[in-house]
Amino acid sequence: MRKKVTVVGGGFVGSTTAQRIVDRGLADVVMTDILEGVPAGKALDLLESTPIIRSDAQTQGISTASGTYEATANSDIIVITAGFPRKPGMSRDDLLRANYDVVKGVVEGVVKFSPNAILIVVTNPMDAMAQSAFKVSGFPKNRVIGMAGVLDSARMSTFIAQELGVSVENVHSFVLGGHGDDMVPLPRYSTVAGISILELLPKERIDAIVTRTRNGGAEIVNLMKTGSAYYAPSAAVLEMIEAILKDKKKILPCAIYLQGEYGIDGLFVGVPVKLGARGAEQIIQIKLTPEEDAALKKSADSVRSLVKVLGV
Ligand code: 2OP
Repeated sequence: MRKKVTVVGGGFVGSTTAQRIVDRGLADVVMTDILEGVPAGKALDLLESTPIIRSDAQTQGISTASGTYEATANSDIIVITAGFPRKPGMSRDDLLRANYDVVKGVVEGVVKFSPNAILIVVTNPMDAMAQSAFKVSGFPKNRVIGMAGVLDSARMSTFIAQELGVSVENVHSFVLGGHGDDMVPLPRYSTVAGISILELLPKERIDAIVTRTRNGGAEIVNLMKTGSAYYAPSAAVLEMIEAILKDKKKILPCAIYLQGEYGIDGLFVGVPVKLGARGAEQIIQIKLTPEEDAALKKSADSVRSLVKVLGV
């Protein structure tokens, strides 16, 4: 039987995620949105691309304005992108309350029909929204995963590859912590052909890459003015979906509910996670220097202040 992925939210992140899944023929896709007609139209358009791209994936678009999430039943993965996007000058945290209400409603709607699904949360502020989805769903922690580390690491890898004039395929970057202004890019664990960038770049260039990575989302919001990034975010979601559906056991930075790992308890924070058919199958603990550890704790404190406001 083919796999089924529901993408909640038919905006740019949701629709490009759906497109990437269909392009790869990874799963059938149900796209939902509160708008009438838009999800159905986009899903049909996507379906009509399949003879050309040679994909047997089926698509369906449903509006949840008046209806239910019944068409999403028995999804293997549910990607939650619904919510209000950032506008220029707005931090991810400004979105907190508005998007909590959206995520809560969505999670209540979908989990009834897909009690065994894995939730991938994208809506910002992502770590707090992942924690909200975890609490509202009642799912075990291996089945609620936040997407940001893959995106933030991809941004860092892009900047490193540009700086050194090497293939992006040579670069592995590691970004931990919350998906906020004090995320923790780790130069020590970021490598080019296996060589730490500490060996390859002067400190001031590394510092510039770290700063640009932290501001990567805002850089794009400021350029676009009326929206936020979606090509790299959807590519990041796809990498996670593929790791899960193909049971790849792939280690990727993901937001996950920590219970003492890295000295953080009861909080979603980005750390290296092994992704496979059961979702987040293992949290990988790496040794941090005192400075790296302090930066991770600071980032976790920012997430904690948000979840406290929400009481989740
Ligand atoms: C980003 O980093 C909007 O959080 C999203 O692009």
